[in-house]
Order: sequence, then C-alpha cells, then structure tokens
Amino acid sequence: MSIEKEDQARKRFLLVCQGLFCLGRGSHGLLAELRNLKQQGVLPSELEIKPYYCFNGCSHGPNMVSYPDRVWFERVSPDNLTQVVTYLGEGIPATDPLLNQCRVIEVVRHRAYSDIKEELGF
Ligand code: FES
Repeated sequence: MSIEKEDQARKRFLLVCQGLFCLGRGSHGLLAELRNLKQQGVLPSELEIKPYYCFNGCSHGPNMVSYPDRVWFERVSPDNLTQVVTYLGEGIPATDPLLNQCRVIEVVRHRAYSDIKEELGF
C-alpha cells in the first residue's frame, strides 16, 4: 500500500451539514462546538471535522455523517451532541432515538455516501 493510501485509510471525517435547513436548526453552533472539542483534544486527532453543504435529508436535520464508517446522525442538538462525541471518541453507538431513527430514507443516504466518496476520493 502506498503512503498516500495508508494515510487515507487512517483518515476519518465528521461531515456537518451547513445547508440552509440544518443551519436554521443550529448546525453552525454545533460545528463550532465540535471544532472547540477537537482543539481541546476531546476528539481523536485523526478525525477531521468538515462542513458539508446538504445531504438532502433536510427535513430531519441537523444532519452529520461520520465517514468512512457511514454512521448518520440526525436531529443533532446541543443536548445530544455528547453522544455523537462519545461515538467518535470511543466508538460507543448513540442511544438517543432522535439521533438514529433513520428518518432519512435509505436511497437518500446511499446517494449521500456516494457523493461523499466522490468528494473525498475514497
Ligand atoms: S440542509 Fe442539511 S441535509 Fe439539507
């Protein structure tokens, strides 16, 4: 495996929707808080937090996607953000039903994963 491929294999992303609907439900503040936590060392160093501009699951936002593990969080709020952070840091799945009720239908999720793959290149 080339060094570039090895680096890519270690890379993890949390994509935080900053599309209009998610913004209207507070995703900008959530992104700022996640960046703070990253800076404080609460989140893993290999995790990159990136804004994303709409997964097309707008009615169920704020949406976030952990990639490449493809874990989708919906209806993220300041109250349940800790569960997202715990998942990212310790791998413990979120239990808050608001976060993972899968309201965003499968076909939309698959499309989003394929767009993300194309954008990130892996
Ligand atoms: S605005 Fe966030 S999914 Fe569309």
